[in-house]
Formats: sequence, structure tokens, C-alpha cells
Amino acid sequence: MTTPDQSTAAPAPASAHGRLVVAVDGPSGSGKSSVCRAAARRLSAEYLDTGAMYRAATWYCLDTGVDFSDESAVAVAVEETPLSISTDPDHQKVWVGEADVTEAIRESRISEAVSEVATNRQARSVLIAEQRRLIDAAGFVIAEGRDITTVVAPDAQVRVLLTASAEARLARRGAELGGGQSAQSLQRQVIERDARDSAAANFTEAADGVAVLDSSHLSFEETVNSLVARIESVD
Ligand code: DC
Repeated sequence: MTTPDQSTAAPAPASAHGRLVVAVDGPSGSGKSSVCRAAARRLSAEYLDTGAMYRAATWYCLDTGVDFSDESAVAVAVEETPLSISTDPDHQKVWVGEADVTEAIRESRISEAVSEVATNRQARSVLIAEQRRLIDAAGFVIAEGRDITTVVAPDAQVRVLLTASAEARLARRGAELGGGQSAQSLQRQVIERDARDSAAANFTEAADGVAVLDSSHLSFEETVNSLVARIESVD
């Protein structure tokens, strides 16, 4: 992975406790991106959306026409991806080279192809190394994904698995995409994708020391409050 422009990263704020890493994992539609971003804003922390990195690498693979059936070619393309991501929760931006792909990586074509990258072991190790580098460079960061509590930052001071029922997750992802998606497309983007991705990372059960936050019956605000309270309770 090449990282051409790190000048876009936010300055590293420190928490009142100095360096503090918060790791949050969860399935698609659990609300982890919006919850973590809101918590980071409230606490003046940095925010790292690792799923956006998998999506940006997938965007590059599609843009360069990589053959997804060729695992080595996918890994080489991910290694070459000139990816930059901002960790400022107020200005969440992702670039591949000069292209601002912030919006494009949310398209269904990316959601439907991203597991090809997420289940590629070599590609994962490239992205994990870059995620660790970004976390290390931050003073106080909330990083979210599928394997942050277990693989990327198992030593994080706060480790949370954010879950929600399948019904709640389908409804949330549908609303996030503007409500125009068919039930079949949502099913592919949420349930089927999670089933494929869970071969690469276990984000359905909490590992030892990881707290479960079930948001099925919580409002967005209540979920953010609960995460913030856990972070604030660290001494
Ligand atoms: O959270 P998301 O839908 O933006 O994630 C996009 C994809 O990236 C998803 O299919 C799972 C994968 N992913 C992963 O395997 N590990 C991570 N730490 C983050 C995301």
C-alpha cells in the first residue's frame, strides 16, 4: 500500500488520559460507523473507518480491472493502491491517488465486490499494517471494523463489539442507502456479505475482554452515550 498524502490526517489529539485506543467491531448495519464517528466528535478523538480502506482498495481493483479470481493479482493491486484516509470525524474523506472516492466507495457495486478483498489473506495483511500505522500515529482514536478488537489493536484500552438484530441491521442499511434498495439487494449487502466476511474475521462473538453493546433496542443517541460512557470510565 502506498500512502502518498498523509498531510490530510488530522493532528493527533490526546485524551485527558494521554494515548487512548478504542477498538469497535461489528457486523454490517450495526451502526458502528455513525456511532463511532459521533463518539469521536463528542470526545475530540480521531476516527478510523477501516471498512472504508477495504472499500477504497476494492474501488482501485475495479478501476484497474483486476481479475478477482486471481488472488495474487488482487493482493498486488491492494499493495499498490495509493490510499489516503482522513481520521478527522468532521471531515471523513478517502482518496485513491488524486481521486476523492469518499462517495463512490459506498456504491452497491463496491459493497458487492468488497469481500473479494476482505477474504484475501495477503490483502488483509497489507491493510492491517496500514491500520496499525494510522492508530499508532494517533493520540486518541476510535477505530472500527471487523477485526480491530482481535487482530489490529487487541491491546486497545476499550474493546467493544457493537451488535444489533438482523432485522435492525437491514432496516438501518436500507435507510443509509436512501430507501431505494430492494429487499434482495439489502440481503446481499448485509447478511450474505457478513456470512462471506466472517470467514476472514470473527465479529459475531465477543473475544475475551471485549464488551458487547447490543443496539437493537437503543436509539442512536443512547448507543453513542453508552460507548462514550465506556470510554470515559477508563482511567
Ligand atoms: O463496514 P463496511 O461495510 O464499510 O466494511 C466493508 C467491508 O470490509 C466488509 O465487507 C468487511 C470488510 N472489513 C474487514 O474485513 N475488516 C475490517 N476491519 C473492516 C472491514
